Amino acid sequence: MAVSQFPDGFLWGGALAANQAEGAYLEGGKGLTTVDMIPHGSQRMAVKLGLEPRFTLREDEFYPSHQAIDFYHRYKEDIALMAEMGFTVFRTSIAWSRIYPQGDELTPNAAGIAFYRDMFAECKKYGIEPLVTLCHFDVPMHLVREYGSWRNRKMIKFFTRYARTCFEAFDGLVKYWLTFNEINILLHSPFSGAGLVFDESDNKEQVKYQAAHHELVASALATQIAHEVNPANQVGCMLAGGNFYPWSCKPEDVWAALEKDRENLFFIDVQARGAYPSYAARMFREKGISIASEPGDNEILKNTVDFVSFSYYASRCASADMNDGNSSAANVVKSLKNPHIQASEWGWGIDPLGLRITMNMMYDRYQKPLFLVENGLGAKDEFNPQGEINDDYRISYLREHIKAMGEAIQDGIPVIGYTTWGCIDLVSASTGEMSKRYGFVYVDRDDSGAGTLARTRKKSFYWYTKVISSNGADL
Ligand code: BG6
Repeated sequence: MAVSQFPDGFLWGGALAANQAEGAYLEGGKGLTTVDMIPHGSQRMAVKLGLEPRFTLREDEFYPSHQAIDFYHRYKEDIALMAEMGFTVFRTSIAWSRIYPQGDELTPNAAGIAFYRDMFAECKKYGIEPLVTLCHFDVPMHLVREYGSWRNRKMIKFFTRYARTCFEAFDGLVKYWLTFNEINILLHSPFSGAGLVFDESDNKEQVKYQAAHHELVASALATQIAHEVNPANQVGCMLAGGNFYPWSCKPEDVWAALEKDRENLFFIDVQARGAYPSYAARMFREKGISIASEPGDNEILKNTVDFVSFSYYASRCASADMNDGNSSAANVVKSLKNPHIQASEWGWGIDPLGLRITMNMMYDRYQKPLFLVENGLGAKDEFNPQGEINDDYRISYLREHIKAMGEAIQDGIPVIGYTTWGCIDLVSASTGEMSKRYGFVYVDRDDSGAGTLARTRKKSFYWYTKVISSNGADL
C-alpha cells in the first residue's frame, strides 16, 4: 500500500446542511427560513436571485426543503452510518430559526437547543467531531420581512445573539465553527445567499456590499465571542472556492481572471487578514458604492478567523470579454467553459489539479490552516439488477481530488481535514433536485418528493471506509 500523504489526526468525514437535510420545517418550534420559500421548478432561479420576492408559501408549488431527507427524525440512523465509515468529523449547520424562530427574540427556543445537543452528543458517542456552520444560507424569514435581512445593520445584533447562544449551549460538544457558508455567494445569489430582495430603485451592488459589510462585522464579532466563551474554540470563514484561470495569456484575460478572483476573495481577505483589502476602495468608487459603517467596525474586523475553510467543486475561467455563449455556472459563479477539462452532467468542470492550485493560492495569501469542507460530484445514480449502486464515477472524482489535496499537503500546506459534500444524498441547493446526488448513502426520494426515504449504502461507501481507515493511503 502507498504511504499516506496525510498527517496523523487528519479529520475525515462528510458534510450536510440543515436546510438541505433536516426537513421538519415547522417542527420543534422552527420558524420559516429563506430556503423554505425557494420552490423546485422554473421559478427557482428568480427567487434565489432575489428578483421575484417570495414572502408567503404557495399551494401550487413544491418546496424541497420542507421534508428534505428527514434528517431531523433520522439523524441517529444517519450518524451511525457515518460512524460505520469511520468518520472523525461531521459537518452540519444549525438552522438559525430552530434556535430563534423569528430571529429577533430575546430568548432562544429550548426545543431547538435540545435537538442540536442530542445530535452533537450522538456524534461524540462515536468519536466524531462536529464541525458546525451557524448560517448555511437559511436566514429566518421574519428578518427578511421586517428588516430587509442583511441590508439592515440590526442583523449584526440578531446574529451575534444567536451565535453566543450556540457557543454557550454547545460548549464542550462543538469546537469547530464556521460563521457563514460560502459567504461570497451573497454576490451571485443574493436571496438564497443572504436573504436579499431587490426593488427597481435599488443599486444592487450597493445593497450587496452593504449587506456584506454587516455579515463581515457579524462574523468578526462571532469569532470574538467564540474565543471568549471558550479559548479552545476554532472558528473558520468559508469560501465558495475555485481559482479563475485566464482564458488566454493575453494580459487583458489575465487581469480579468485576477479581478474575478478578487471578487470572491474580498470576503476572505477581510475575515482572514482583519481589514478591507487595498483594492476595495477603488472597486467601491467605480461601482458607485458607499459603505455605511460605525466607528468601531475596523477594530472589530481585526478578530480574524483561526482557519480558512472552503468548498471546491470546479475551477473557473475568465476572459476580458466574457462571452455568454460559452458560459457555465458551476456553483452559481459564472465562468467560461474550459475546453481542457471534462464536466459533470450539470456542467461543473472536473479539475483536480485546480484544487491543488486553489489551495496553494489560498495558503500563500492567508498563511492559515485550510479545511476543505465541501467537495464532490453531483451525479444520477441507478440501481443495477442486484440492487446495488456502483458509483465508480464518484469514486474516481473523489480519488483524484483527495490525491490533489495530498499533493497540496506535500507542498507544505497545513490542512485540518476533509468533509465531502452531501455524504448522504440530499436536496441540491442550486436546482432543488434529489436526483443530483453526492452521497455515499442513497436516499429513496425523487425530485417530486416521492419515496420511502430508505437509506442504502453505495459502492463508494465501502471505498471511503477504506480511505479513512488507511488515512488516505489506500485510494
Ligand atoms: C455549495 C453549497 O454551494 O455547493 C451547498 O454550500 C450545495 O449547499 C453544494 O449543495 C452543491 O451544490 P448543488 O447545487 O449541487 O447542491
